[in-house]
Amino acid sequence: MTETSAQKVILPDAQTVTEVRHYTDRLFAFRCTRPPSLRFRSGEFVMIGLMGDNGRPLLRAYSIASPSWDDELEFYSIKVPDGPLTSRLQHVQPGDQIILRPKPVGTLVHDALLPGRRLWLFSTGTGFAPFASLIRDPETFEKFDEIIVTHTCRDVAELTYSREIVEAVKSDEMLGELLGADNLAKLRYYPTTTREQSPKMGRITHLIESGEVFSDLGVPPLDPAVDRGMVCGSLAFNLDIKALLEGAGLREGANSEPAEFVIEKAFVGEGV
Ligand SMILES: Cc1cc2nc3c(=O)[nH]c(=O)nc-3n(C[C@H](O)[C@H](O)[C@H](O)COP(=O)(O)OP(=O)(O)OC[C@H]3O[C@@H](n4cnc5c(N)ncnc54)[C@H](O)[C@@H]3O)c2cc1C
Ligand SMILES: NC(=O)c1ccc[n+]([C@@H]2O[C@H](COP(=O)([O-])OP(=O)(O)OC[C@H]3O[C@@H](n4cnc5c(N)ncnc54)[C@H](OP(=O)(O)O)[C@@H]3O)[C@@H](O)[C@H]2O)c1
Repeated sequence: MTETSAQKVILPDAQTVTEVRHYTDRLFAFRCTRPPSLRFRSGEFVMIGLMGDNGRPLLRAYSIASPSWDDELEFYSIKVPDGPLTSRLQHVQPGDQIILRPKPVGTLVHDALLPGRRLWLFSTGTGFAPFASLIRDPETFEKFDEIIVTHTCRDVAELTYSREIVEAVKSDEMLGELLGADNLAKLRYYPTTTREQSPKMGRITHLIESGEVFSDLGVPPLDPAVDRGMVCGSLAFNLDIKALLEGAGLREGANSEPAEFVIEKAFVGEGV
């Protein structure tokens, strides 16, 4: 996608793409400039998009994948073959412009959780995006003794982005200097696949039910006095995890009423 300079100046809330990385034929990530006035809490989402053929902005909700201290913004995206936005967004190149409405919102934020000792970040597919922000935020390490991020995908290749982010956090010089190596070691990664062979197979929901995730990680079962959760995936996934967390005695929280876990949909709809 190449914009003419005439188009560039008329785009409302325009930001410039600085980097694009493709992971699979269904997944990519990109970075763009950040409006100087944009303040957000790690884990929130904004509306982003492109100008539609009808001359009106075509916008969709996107979790900000970069932490709140980053000079740029990062997004992790699906490519829906016939999707109104992503059939075009997947072709963006550095230098292109996107539209970004600077009004961040969302429930996957520290403010919506009561203090706890262990933070579970449960994700499937692109639901990892808000957690890419949260696990790069020093506040997450300051608030919890242990952070466990689970990511379930169909195939091994779909785990690449989360694996890279976790590895980058663990070797990040600035975070290491700020927090200390011991603090960074608090972050634990539990990737699982469901349709391709990998070291850990199975839906995280099944691994919770069987207790396997707790024995694998050497942690006790979920306890409302200790554990806090953030959940981001398909509607079916969110409902299944919610039932498990509530079964363990955790209550769903919100910005207005913090509790033990929070949930956000990674997308609306049944499938691509
Ligand atoms: C709060 C919130 C945060 C979101 N954050 C992200 C994000 O960080 N990254 C991202 O890629 N998408 C995210 N989405 C989904 C996003 O808003 C769009 O739906 C997506 O970009 C596809 O847009 P589209 O116009 O191409 O197709 P749409 O018409 O929006 O979607 C077509 C169909 O594709 C499927 N689909 C859409 N998005 C996804 C997805 N992410 N994973 C799997 N299937 C999907 C759904 O079945 C949907 O019915 C988020 C949605 C919500 C509600
Ligand atoms: N990923 C692909 O290669 C692919 C290709 C073409 C089209 N699609 C379509 O795209 C849509 C989104 O695909 P996606 O792979 O991003 O998301 P998804 O279908 O929600 O699956 C992502 C991961 O979450 C797991 N999962 C799904 N529902 C769950 C639940 N209720 N509890 C626990 N785990 C659950 C899946 O396991 P299971 O494998 O056990 O379901 C999979 O490992 C799907 O509807 C699909 O039809 C996907």
